[in-house]
Amino acid sequence: MERTFIMLKPDAIQRRLTGKIITRLEERGLKIVAAKMLQITRELAMEHYQEHKNKPFFNNLIDYITSAPVLALVIEGENSIKLTRKIVGATNPQEADPGTIRGDFALHTGRNIIHASDSPKSAEREIKLFFNEDEIYDYTMPDEKIIY
Ligand code: TYD
Ligand code: MG
Repeated sequence: MERTFIMLKPDAIQRRLTGKIITRLEERGLKIVAAKMLQITRELAMEHYQEHKNKPFFNNLIDYITSAPVLALVIEGENSIKLTRKIVGATNPQEADPGTIRGDFALHTGRNIIHASDSPKSAEREIKLFFNEDEIYDYTMPDEKIIY
């Protein structure tokens, strides 16, 4: 089953949106297999966002993501990487469709409340950055054995 890395950014926590956001992922049928609250160090933030290190927004992004605790999650489900990106919506909330998390709860790219891995390669890398293997749980849900 495919796993992806999700992070509720500081503004999601501070705006008390944690429950609403997790509910959207759960209601779609995705499964939480790991969860942890942490305040990201600058080192971890720079590693996580390494692909953006030469972008003009990089320093602001690192300041923002390290400013207060985040909630890191590993989410599992069929096609979970593409599916969560769809549920999350476009990077710029102004362009995110209504009905997506960013399209319903955010206004600015610099405060877009949630991160989701964008490919199998980044999902694997990001999960490893934030979680040890023994912090990720393997379990079955009652409705999971149904084959359509
Ligand atoms: P990116 O990986 O392009 O977006 P996504 O989060 O949808 O995968 O960018 C990472 C984060 O960097 C993004 O969520 C918010 C921030 N960012 C800016 O602040 N300004 C920008 O112009 C862009 C592209 C991103
Ligand atoms: Mg990205």
